[in-house]
Amino acid sequence: MSDQPETASDQPLDERNSNRSQRPDSATFLDFVTSGWGPRAASGATRSPAADHTAARRSALSARLPGQRLVVPAGTYKVRSNDTDYRFRPHSAFTHLTGLGGEQEPDAVLVLHPVEDGTGDDGSAHRAVLYLRPLAGRDSAEFFSDSRYGEFWVGARPTLEDVETVTGIRTAHLDDLRDALAKDAGPDGVQVAVVPGVDEAVEAVVAEIRASEEAGERDETLAEALSELRLVKDAYEVQELRHAVAVTIEGFEKVVRRMPEAVAHRRGERVVEGTFVGHARQEGNAVGYETIAAAGEHATTLHWIDNDGAVRPGELLLLDAGVEVDSLYTADVTRTLPVDGTFTEAQRRVYQAVLDAADAAFEAAVPGARFRDVHAAAMRVIAQRLEEWGLLPVPAEVALQRDQQQHRRWMVHGTSHHLGLDVHDCAQARAEMYLDGVLEPGMVFTIEPGLYFKSDDELVPPELRGIGVRIEDDVLVTADGNENLSAALPRDPDAVEAWMAALRG
Ligand code: GLY
Ligand code: MN
Ligand code: MN
Repeated sequence: MSDQPETASDQPLDERNSNRSQRPDSATFLDFVTSGWGPRAASGATRSPAADHTAARRSALSARLPGQRLVVPAGTYKVRSNDTDYRFRPHSAFTHLTGLGGEQEPDAVLVLHPVEDGTGDDGSAHRAVLYLRPLAGRDSAEFFSDSRYGEFWVGARPTLEDVETVTGIRTAHLDDLRDALAKDAGPDGVQVAVVPGVDEAVEAVVAEIRASEEAGERDETLAEALSELRLVKDAYEVQELRHAVAVTIEGFEKVVRRMPEAVAHRRGERVVEGTFVGHARQEGNAVGYETIAAAGEHATTLHWIDNDGAVRPGELLLLDAGVEVDSLYTADVTRTLPVDGTFTEAQRRVYQAVLDAADAAFEAAVPGARFRDVHAAAMRVIAQRLEEWGLLPVPAEVALQRDQQQHRRWMVHGTSHHLGLDVHDCAQARAEMYLDGVLEPGMVFTIEPGLYFKSDDELVPPELRGIGVRIEDDVLVTADGNENLSAALPRDPDAVEAWMAALRG
């Protein structure tokens, strides 16, 4: 006897999504829907400006990992819920090597096939092929019935020729991928490395091809190489980061203009977030990370993204937000603004301490210094101010010792991270290349010290409780120092007040 409820159907659950469908499937309909279409308009595909730079990046990867077949998937759709997907965003390593941004191209896979050294692309040791699922013909079922890929549902996707034109990389149909990966592969043949954690289906194919004992170490080496390749930005990347910062600054201006609306709304933080996110979609691809719109006490929560609180005059608004432009480079900027346009004495005191810490970090961010020196410079100022205010249980000098660090109670995060296609860029780089790495012209990272005094922190005086301040700028290391890419957004407290007053008229 079955213990199933009497109403249970024999139909498997994963087939039930189509139970709501009334799509006709008669032969008459199929003939009708696939016929009578005029010629397609020219695609208008043109070579991307990124294409002039991606070949050199692929060559650098080739030089680092000769002899291996290197597999760099774009990734596929991620389910948001049931049969609804998140908007597609390619993996950053794929974008870095192909220049494809925006929503291009789900399921695509870049493969660098090893060839005899010097006979590959641009004299390298690899030959690049981009495998993708091209636009389907109008005589196919995909054309009208596939809600993930079909032209009726998501618009015409590019052809192989389009992608070749845009990227300058030879293309092939995704159906050819399996055989291409397997060719001459094996323990005694070509070794295959795939970027891990991006596309399960591609990883499964690679796993099938190679012997089980050749596990993931090569994949990790590939991920590490791809991350470290991005530590120094080329001219195109710097240009795109400048653009991302400029658009982000416009978003901050829009937020200030709408501050009265935020104050009037019970969830003013959502007004702030919505303003910025709307701007990011209008002018770029999206936000590069979830917007932090933290008013009052919420500013003491480092990644406050609920953004469901009120925005009250007399309090501060910490806005940490960045536009990701169409090429997928993102800014990451924070300003802490007095909601009514004027800092109180206590707010200004905290703000000035954070600003001084940031300025010290800027001074340390020069070629030849180590990445960790930037943080150390900021921490010296933070510890000194906390000592002056009587908050530290030990002298600042003692707190700064590695086994002490009491000042970090009020700034538990780091001062800097690399910035680029990912907001926390180059995240798989080795420590000796990142934290202990030596700064070089072309590196771009944030400087973002802060101080956060929670309202129930009994170790701080009442006038400081509930105040959270972070100032975050995006910095380019230059030949003789650095450039603050976000300098056009005021940081000095007087300049912030004047800027807000001017925007609010
Ligand atoms: N917005 C996250 C960060 O600043 O790292
Ligand atoms: Mn940051
Ligand atoms: Mn940030």
